[in-house]
Amino acid sequence: MLKKVTPIIILGAIFLIGTYYKYSRDNLFYPTSDLDEYWKKPVPLQGEASLSYKPVERSLMPKDCGSCHKQQHADWMNSRHAKAMGSGVIGQTLMMDPSNASSCYRCHAPLQEQHEWIKETKWISSSWKKNTQFNSKLQSQGLTCVACHVRSHKRYGPGQLSHMTKLLPKEAHGGFIRKDFFEKSEFCMGCHQFKSTEYKLNGKLLENTYQEWKESVYATSNVTCQNCHMPGRQHLWQGIHRKEMVQRALDIKVDVGKTPYEVHERTNIKVTIKNVGAGHYVPTYVTPKIDVLMNLIDENGNRLSKTKQTFTIGRYISLNLEKEYFDTRIPPQKEIEIVYQKKISRGNLKFEVRVIVYPDDFYFRFFKAKLESDNNVAQREHIKKALDDSIKSAYELFSGVYSLQN
Ligand code: HEC
Ligand code: HEC
Ligand code: HEC
Ligand code: HEC
Ligand code: HEC
Repeated sequence: MLKKVTPIIILGAIFLIGTYYKYSRDNLFYPTSDLDEYWKKPVPLQGEASLSYKPVERSLMPKDCGSCHKQQHADWMNSRHAKAMGSGVIGQTLMMDPSNASSCYRCHAPLQEQHEWIKETKWISSSWKKNTQFNSKLQSQGLTCVACHVRSHKRYGPGQLSHMTKLLPKEAHGGFIRKDFFEKSEFCMGCHQFKSTEYKLNGKLLENTYQEWKESVYATSNVTCQNCHMPGRQHLWQGIHRKEMVQRALDIKVDVGKTPYEVHERTNIKVTIKNVGAGHYVPTYVTPKIDVLMNLIDENGNRLSKTKQTFTIGRYISLNLEKEYFDTRIPPQKEIEIVYQKKISRGNLKFEVRVIVYPDDFYFRFFKAKLESDNNVAQREHIKKALDDSIKSAYELFSGVYSLQN
């Protein structure tokens, strides 16, 4: 009897262990091994292309992909991914040793051809040698088409080509390999989600976008990162830097309370801001901040002194990443309520609210401090430009004026 059931027990045990293993891996948000293999970083050297490839098909430069894939290239050029090796990154990696620089390149320029150095691992020790395939022009292109679509010169894509194909020549680069993972949020995770063992502050990972999404209704209803950030397969990846995108994320309501207010009464105004359109916290990163500025104004629009109240939405941290001052980000489908209570000192007053977005607030503070402390000339040029960019990216998201008195 026992002999007969033993194999069943063993098989059962293997099945249970297997299921547990798979479940716990998924739970630790490791992607399928297929995707793991695809997103090895750095992306290994492409090697020799097939002899049948024309020079334009061998090239790793985005503009050469763009000679056939015009729309994707035009979009990508306007995206932050194309600017991922901007002054702010170069200004910092310039003075770094290979190991630290490559930790940045992992997300900002993930192709091995974009790295000056190549890591050689022998047994347990590793060393860095000069990369003979290094291409500085390609490095400056940031997150390229090839990083997401090409391995060993073979093209990988989502398949089901859209109307775009009509504009393409009949065939090129030996066709392509279709992969489902292009349409999954896990595809974006490697660079937009820290692993559970990576840097935490105040018990929370510094980058947690995928996990925020995973815990939201968007994951359960299968609305992916691509659905919101690549609608119609556009290659624009708009986010916090784009006013229209943030307007879609936030619903802002103002309830002025029981008006008209008498002179000497206190206002009881409620400003409610709801995250109706982002599949993660708004903002998801520690780098932006959103200021809600509230004031009483007179009939000429002048702001009355001592009536200013500011509320900041964001995860505000110190420059050395060691202290979190506050975290007021808004989770998906959640809202915050700000109460404005001030004494009405005279007649004819109105309530004014403005919402200002600073997409690069952390970098602004960081670059300013860096310029004050750092004297390397080459580096300063880049950092100055980066500081300038971080100032220019701010914009007004919303403004409104509400009557309080007759
Ligand atoms: C190889 C790493 C990598 C992958 C993969 C990746 N990203 Fe990015 N992404 C970055 C980097 C780096 C930046 C910042 C670029 C910069 O501004 O310097 C960025 C910026 C963005 C932004 C810009 C936000 C803003 O500041 O306005 C959005 C949106 C975005 N990515 C969405 C996605 C989505 C969606 C996917 C998956 C389809 C994806 N990314 C895949 C590295 C990556
Ligand atoms: C896990 C992926 C990842 C790694 C590793 C990473 N970054 Fe980024 N970086 C991003 C993403 C995503 C953004 C855009 C969101 C934001 O602004 O926080 C970004 C934005 C930036 C920006 C602001 C945008 C710009 O182009 O000026 C700078 C500067 C920057 N990173 C520098 C670095 C440096 C230096 C390192 C290495 C020490 C590094 N990053 C490592 C993902 C990464
Ligand atoms: C950050 C990663 C990333 C980068 C960089 C990127 N793509 Fe894509 N690409 C994707 C994803 C993801 C999809 C599928 C999107 C979907 O299905 O929603 C896609 C789809 C495509 C498609 C199929 C389009 C269609 O309409 O069927 C083509 C062609 C393509 N990309 C070419 C390019 C070219 C050319 C570049 C550079 C100019 C580029 N991609 C840069 C991630 C990327
Ligand atoms: C000479 C024109 C040409 C050049 C250059 C070219 N492609 Fe293509 N690409 C095509 C054609 C044609 C197809 C459709 C192939 C097929 O259906 O077999 C295609 C298909 C693809 C697909 C599959 C799209 C899908 O629906 O999944 C991707 C991804 C892609 N190319 C990326 C690239 C990248 C990245 C580069 C640059 C490194 C590049 N291509 C350079 C012509 C070109
Ligand atoms: C339901 C739509 C939706 C989904 C799903 C979604 N996003 Fe967003 N995302 C937005 C909107 C709207 C914004 C602009 C508001 C903001 O910055 O938070 C945004 C902003 C961003 C930013 C800008 C940086 C910041 O601090 O906010 C990044 C990066 C980003 N998304 C990446 C992702 C990634 C990666 C995924 C998938 C794991 C994803 N998003 C899923 C709508 C979405």
